[in-house]
Amino acid sequence: MKILGIETSCDETAIAVVENGHHVLSNVVSSQVDLHAKYGGIVPEVASRQHLLSIIPIFREALSTAGIAHDRLDALSVTTGPGLAGSLLVGVNFAKGAALGLGLPLLEINHLEGHIYANWLDDQQDQTRNFVFPILCLIASGGHTDLILMKEHGDYTLLGKTLDDAAGEAFDKVARLLGLAFPGGPEIQRIAATSNESELLPRAWLGDSLDFSFSGLKTATLNKIKQQTIGNQETTGQENVLPGERMARIAAGFQESIIDVLVSKSLKAAQLHRARGILLGGGVAANSLLRSEMNRRSPLPIFVPAPALCTDNGAMIAAAAYYQGRHKIISGTTSLAQDIIPHLRLGVPGKV
Ligand code: KG4
Ligand code: ZN
Repeated sequence: MKILGIETSCDETAIAVVENGHHVLSNVVSSQVDLHAKYGGIVPEVASRQHLLSIIPIFREALSTAGIAHDRLDALSVTTGPGLAGSLLVGVNFAKGAALGLGLPLLEINHLEGHIYANWLDDQQDQTRNFVFPILCLIASGGHTDLILMKEHGDYTLLGKTLDDAAGEAFDKVARLLGLAFPGGPEIQRIAATSNESELLPRAWLGDSLDFSFSGLKTATLNKIKQQTIGNQETTGQENVLPGERMARIAAGFQESIIDVLVSKSLKAAQLHRARGILLGGGVAANSLLRSEMNRRSPLPIFVPAPALCTDNGAMIAAAAYYQGRHKIISGTTSLAQDIIPHLRLGVPGKV
């Protein structure tokens, strides 16, 4: 079964064709990062206008790379939420038009479920994954930090979430404080790798809770940056300059703090709920320290997509659609009733 997946929830116009939920025939991602970089974050209206310009060429490219004509597709799928309303509208309206025009069914996909199913996509590094439920999922992205118990395909319970910033958002904001480029996660990882030492920064454990909070860490990092900048001014006379090695030590300390909390809470949740494995997803799952610490500290098997499949892409949406559609008979044409749900959750009763 060949499913086309459309993802436009944020700043990537992404379309892919995936066969049987795992074999990626094409995966085209057009990132708008250069458009937004000068603003230090995503500007929603700029994002939706760019999706409008990109979506038809990306659709054509996804089909031609896959080497199939549109009449060989079995279904279309699209992210309906969560995400930016204007961005979602472009993808969903395009998907409705295409499904009606081609006479194909259209599956509505929760973006967070897509991040989970990125783990089912073929990955050159690991063809032998053995998923045994229940699985503890950590979804850490620019918009979410969720701990979700997956008891079966399609069966989710939200166990913990961030009370303020998402992990990726904290990376992006701290990178900005350090004068680094957007998106901040890969930049912080790069700078941190240049230092053998790190500043000790706080961890917000929130008692026994499985929730997260990263805003205190952000403030502590800002205070450390100010302190070190003033210290440098006193010793060298240079104003408002944070020398590279101090910046790297702060970046390393920030990264260690955030990863320590993500790993510790995931392990705790997995143990409490007797999970048989831990699965990572979302842009922050591309972080090399998170990947290595999870593998080092977990007694359970760790599943993580290839780094390029951690960040937003259409293949993960098509994979999620395959597992959703497997339990239903995919037939008929689409209805016109699909709407966007910008604040859609996963694992909250009535919201899956
Ligand atoms: O999943 P994603 O592509 O989009 C959302 O659904 O939000 O995640 C983007 C986020 C950004 O905040 C970005 O800084 C972060 O993922 N990210 C990383 C890394 N690569 C991307 N964070 C830490 N380390 C990385 N290597
Ligand atoms: Zn995402």
